[in-house]
Amino acid sequence: MDPSTSGLAKKLAEADQSHLLQFWNELNPTEQADLIHDLQGMDFQEINGFFKSAMEMSSSSKHEKMDARMEPVPREVLGSVTRDRDCLKDWELTGLHSISQSKVAVLLLAGGQGTRLGVSYPKGMYDVGLPSHKTLFQIQAERILKLQQLAEQKHKIKCCIPWYIMTSGRTMESTKEFFSKHNYFGLGKDNVVFFQQGMLPAMDYRGKIILESKGKLSMAPDGNGGLYRALGNQGILDDMERRGVEFIHVYCVDNILVKVADPAFVGFCVQKGADCGAKVVEKTNPTEAVGVVCKVDGRYQVVEYSEITLATAEKRSADGRLMFNAGNVANHFFSFSFLRDIVQKYEPQLQHHVAQKKIPHVDGEGQLIKPDKPNGIKMEKFVFDIFQFAKTFVVYEVLREDEFSPLKNADSQDGKDTPTTARHSLMSLHHRWVLNAGGHFIDENGRRVPAIPRDGAAGITDDGNRNLKDGTDLPIKCEISPLVSYGGEGLEELVKGREFHPTLMIDESGVHELVKNGV
Ligand code: UTP
Repeated sequence: MDPSTSGLAKKLAEADQSHLLQFWNELNPTEQADLIHDLQGMDFQEINGFFKSAMEMSSSSKHEKMDARMEPVPREVLGSVTRDRDCLKDWELTGLHSISQSKVAVLLLAGGQGTRLGVSYPKGMYDVGLPSHKTLFQIQAERILKLQQLAEQKHKIKCCIPWYIMTSGRTMESTKEFFSKHNYFGLGKDNVVFFQQGMLPAMDYRGKIILESKGKLSMAPDGNGGLYRALGNQGILDDMERRGVEFIHVYCVDNILVKVADPAFVGFCVQKGADCGAKVVEKTNPTEAVGVVCKVDGRYQVVEYSEITLATAEKRSADGRLMFNAGNVANHFFSFSFLRDIVQKYEPQLQHHVAQKKIPHVDGEGQLIKPDKPNGIKMEKFVFDIFQFAKTFVVYEVLREDEFSPLKNADSQDGKDTPTTARHSLMSLHHRWVLNAGGHFIDENGRRVPAIPRDGAAGITDDGNRNLKDGTDLPIKCEISPLVSYGGEGLEELVKGREFHPTLMIDESGVHELVKNGV
């Protein structure tokens, strides 16, 4: 097909994007067909509109700091696993009851590109090197299975937690294949629902779409807030409605500690009658680059570290904690009706954020250029952009060391949020579970390992990362299958009063000491 006769050339000219056909005559027929196919699916006027408003928003936020408009989360909307210990059991019971009624679904955001981790496959397929070598997907699947079981045992009724998995054009096929190859990790195939978020082209600073090669546009997923558009146009809301889903837990693929469908969080939100809830961890270091949940002009939102002054980041309340300390971990609760309103009414009001990137491209002569400084932007919506529309918003504070350890970077990138820190976080949590259930560890000399590590040993640094400077800081090697325990429960009968040599593995087949440490 010739673009001029198809009307495409005209459409491109009207949108000032004619350069996309600049190399048309150099493409072979397959490349031409692919390019036509990609271009025909795009609404250039809409994309130009996104660019314009994203750039406007980005330049106004650069000039204006948020400080004067911000208020911290008030205590009455806050639930805390440490400060409201007495309520935890009750919240958990409420959550488990909703789960037993099959009213709770989980929604996984897995459409990211995982650029920093740098593997060619979806992040959920990553093995961080646990003794079991389970992938992130498998760990999450098994937590869902276990929770279904716990709810069923408690309420003597069969139930299901549907799992909605958002992928992108790049990750859809491999993700689906992986689940199918592993037989959905024991979950019902019909209860694992994949859907695909949208993609947007990368643009240069003048608003021209970037070509990554002569016949191919540079495309990227439209951010984890692309969720809301995809829920509507992929029929996912309808599917939830058909199943009678009332509450949805949304989370990111990269957090190895994620408590999928956490009954206490769900129960807290349900008891508060919330339409929207955010799980947070305490920000303790003023300069940690984490977004904080707070009120801006009376509405909830996440404010990034770069949007406030250091003076505000350092402000403290009377109790000595940072005033803006509700660190966002992209872990949310939505009621179905809230989600439906977002998708049907509010989504078009959400603006794209601008991320400046180094985007490989072909120049006017067709030469491939790999820039060493940012040369254009990607446009992304964020999952938390909808807090502003909530009528009853609540915040649930959990302990970072129990619930949040994201996998972002490769081990080569030194330190933060790597496969090593993810693996250590999980093993150290499971170590604590064993101690809490009355078990002990003994070292190679037959001595009990003290429950509280000595100075300098695996501690938590100010920004919540593991302090692992040398070999002495390594955590005890211990892994407990989610099929045995979802959150530390049910371990006493297996470990109480017993001593273990690491590596300790507890799975459905029993308690094992892997004497030849393979890890
Ligand atoms: P990040 O923003 O950390 O991105 O995503 P990423 O893709 O994992 O990693 P980088 O930045 O390319 O290195 C946070 C969560 O949001 C999801 C990711 O899959 C992850 O669970 N996400 C991100 C999406 O689902 N879609 C997107 O477009 C972007």
